[in-house]
Amino acid sequence: MSDALIVIGRDGVITRADDSDRNSVDHFRRAGRLLELSPSQYLVPGLIDTHIHAPQWPQMGTALDLPLEKWLFEYTFKLEARYSDAEFARRVYDDLVTTLLANGTTTGVYYGSIHLPATKILAQVCLDKGQRALIGRVAMDDPKQCPDNYRDGSAAIAIDETREFIRFVRSMRGNEVRLIEPVITPRFIPACTDELLRGLGKLTGETGCAVQTHCSESDWEHAYVLERMGKSDATAIRDFGLMNRRTVLAHGCHTTVSDRALIRNQGAAISHCPLSNALGSNAVLPVKSCLEEGVHVCLGTDIAGGLRASMFDAVAMAATVSKLLEDGVDATKAADSRGRAGSGISCVTAFYLATTAGGVALDLPIGLLKPGYRFDALLIDTAVPDTNLRLYDFDKSVDILQKIIWNTERQNIKKVWVNGRLVKG
Ligand code: GUN
Ligand code: FE
Repeated sequence: MSDALIVIGRDGVITRADDSDRNSVDHFRRAGRLLELSPSQYLVPGLIDTHIHAPQWPQMGTALDLPLEKWLFEYTFKLEARYSDAEFARRVYDDLVTTLLANGTTTGVYYGSIHLPATKILAQVCLDKGQRALIGRVAMDDPKQCPDNYRDGSAAIAIDETREFIRFVRSMRGNEVRLIEPVITPRFIPACTDELLRGLGKLTGETGCAVQTHCSESDWEHAYVLERMGKSDATAIRDFGLMNRRTVLAHGCHTTVSDRALIRNQGAAISHCPLSNALGSNAVLPVKSCLEEGVHVCLGTDIAGGLRASMFDAVAMAATVSKLLEDGVDATKAADSRGRAGSGISCVTAFYLATTAGGVALDLPIGLLKPGYRFDALLIDTAVPDTNLRLYDFDKSVDILQKIIWNTERQNIKKVWVNGRLVKG
């Protein structure tokens, strides 16, 4: 929409978003409550990153040539174990949340670590900085797939601490609008005993919390669950009581059509993490098929399995890998059997996954600049020197949208609002 007036209530809810009229504009200007965009500036919905491992932030860009199971043991678990140190946690989480807000991530769905104090710190940092966040204290207790120095002492401890984390977040001072929400977070089936998964499923029913976990991420993970449970990852997650309307399943690359029918029927979502998939999942999620099947799909960076913090990069990668899936990549194969026809998505669809679809997946009124929705938004300036975003006077609106989606960098994001509050700029 060009020349629009968006009115935001004190509670952060958009009350009006339509063509501006002189009288209203004059009224808000006189009251000193009008922000006018310059011709080079555009407003877009805030970005919703539905899969972030907060403690992995110091590890960005390392060891991504390793397969998942080695990457976890040789790097990730060793790093996550450090969050028994609350001061270290505070320093990293402060930097991470500041960085993500600067990159336009207005909502983050976070895994913390197994440490209750550190995960409480993450919740407090998000609240203080004003980022909307769904956060989970990670549960993992199976000695077969977790190291001795980074594992819950028992299923009971993990369940009790998860319960305490939920209580803490729901009673945080300043969180009356529920900007921060707790998420029940079994890391993934391989890392959890049946007793823990069953207990967390029960807790999900009791508390009505959202859930996050990994599902059929790689060949190894998919096969491990099939072998141990005698059923698919998605089915097992459902059977443990962990799949509800607000469950976010990371990756899902190896889910079958019937797994996805089950996910759709529960109203759960797959968090597509295209960069992480390309590096460590042995396959790319067929996003277009998922959308046609009616599954909720949202987008994530998978920090630090994916090596970019910006959701604009996740959007670009989602469109790019979908084209690779469509055309195939091995030129020695005939063109008509090289790829999977009809798999490509446009950058606009990818941007939809990062915004509107994120709101649908989380069942929150975010991701659209429309009355009734929360004002989570970015002000993009297309005329910032020393960036790679350039507009020309012959660009049509559709070109401008595509250029913003593909080329926005952190420096172009001049202001960021969450729930009507300015959090950057
Ligand atoms: N599966 C279990 N834990 C992890 C993790 O930290 N990152 C990714 N990408 N997959 C996982
Ligand atoms: Fe992950």
